[in-house]
Amino acid sequence: MKKIKRLIALVILTAVFISPFPSSVQNGNQVLALNNNLGLTPPMGWNSWNIFGGDINEEKIKQIADAMVTSGMKDAGYEYVNLDDNWMANPARDANGKLIPDLKRFPSGMKALADYIHSKGLKFGIYGDRGVTTCCNIPQSGSQGYEEQDAETFASWGVDYLKYDNCASDSNLQAGYERMRDALLKTGRPIFYSICCWYFVGPWMVDCGNSWRTTGDISDDWGSITKNIDVNSKSAAYAGPGHWNDPDMLEVGNGKMTDTEYKAHFSMWCMMAAPLIAGNDIRNMTTATKDILTNKEVIAIDQDAAGVQGTKVSSSGELEVWCKPLGTDGTTKAVTLLNRGGTSADITVNWSDIKLADGPATVRDLWEHKDCGTFNSGYTANVPSHGAVVLKVQAGYTDPTIMYGDVDGSGVIDALDYSLIKRYLLGQISEFPASNGKLVADVDGDGQITALDFSLSKKYLLGIINKFPAQK
Ligand code: GLA
Repeated sequence: MKKIKRLIALVILTAVFISPFPSSVQNGNQVLALNNNLGLTPPMGWNSWNIFGGDINEEKIKQIADAMVTSGMKDAGYEYVNLDDNWMANPARDANGKLIPDLKRFPSGMKALADYIHSKGLKFGIYGDRGVTTCCNIPQSGSQGYEEQDAETFASWGVDYLKYDNCASDSNLQAGYERMRDALLKTGRPIFYSICCWYFVGPWMVDCGNSWRTTGDISDDWGSITKNIDVNSKSAAYAGPGHWNDPDMLEVGNGKMTDTEYKAHFSMWCMMAAPLIAGNDIRNMTTATKDILTNKEVIAIDQDAAGVQGTKVSSSGELEVWCKPLGTDGTTKAVTLLNRGGTSADITVNWSDIKLADGPATVRDLWEHKDCGTFNSGYTANVPSHGAVVLKVQAGYTDPTIMYGDVDGSGVIDALDYSLIKRYLLGQISEFPASNGKLVADVDGDGQITALDFSLSKKYLLGIINKFPAQK
């Protein structure tokens, strides 16, 4: 009987899962969700724009690919080598309308460059635009009206990642981004789809891209970092495996901030489960820069399989505590103590701030690589100006005996509860029918309703788990 119930749930679930969002229907677009199975953790790689701007050529990019391996970046998890704007010829298309590279700077062509990058065990990314030209304004360089042909061209070259920009006059950006999504899916090649449209526009993005830019262009200064943190945090609930908020590429190592600031920048990108796309010249980075970019303990926060975006849980003026739940059992949290102020200061995380019951929890400092001890109700560290202390806090866990997952209050946990959580994450509803709906929807007990609760409720219906982490 239980099996039959689960089978029925599976059928309903499948229907819910493959059905289009209403916006796709209204636009009359081809109805395909982005199901390329990529980006189950945030992508890691390198991109040419922040350090080289348009000054790129194949020699430089091959050297970067070499350095990805020799510097330890590949070993730390970075895999994509991505060209940004200005790789194309001028004008950008041949007589058949096919995109062509600038053969003076890329004499061997893009397939050869992709082959070289692949031979290093890395992946190749390229850049395009939904408008008539890219942001560098090269005639014929935009993909508007050429989506299928360009996606085919990229696939034939062996492209693994597309950053798709927004310099366009057509105001219907959703339609433009969906056209390229469908074109990429049609090629049959798995290509990570990075939407670069500078702000979070709406829930349709979750079904369209593997990531979407939430901010304008980053710059190598502290004000830009804090601004992007704040803007990117607004859409935290939409992040999850396969679809990430993107506060733009890293500036670590580009020279205009202090190493303390770069550490804080990197820490916060990891806390926010952001794509980690290095933007510095990795052929000759300082040891300090390399140590930041390749800190595997901090990277592990970003890459945590649960895929929850961390959020600010308390603050006092310019002193802030951020928390990102790790794993799915509710016992482990990444915590960042962030000091935006001009002088060093003590910052305290209380276990109650991070939804842990008072009681012994171990604390590890992930920049110092050292265990700090066991603490019963919180932990205090001195944090330098514009700096961050990153901690891993691990505890036992208890919670009240309420019926987690039953968000409609019907007394059973079924596909309706699952679809209500999805609708909540998409912004289609703001409350649940159950009287304590938001609490019971937080099935992992981390204090937030995120994609993790959604995926746990799916796992429950599929019989993969038989109890939620929040349930005693
Ligand atoms: C836009 C993007 C940048 C970069 C440039 C290239 O500004 O947001 O990341 O790709 O275009 O022209």
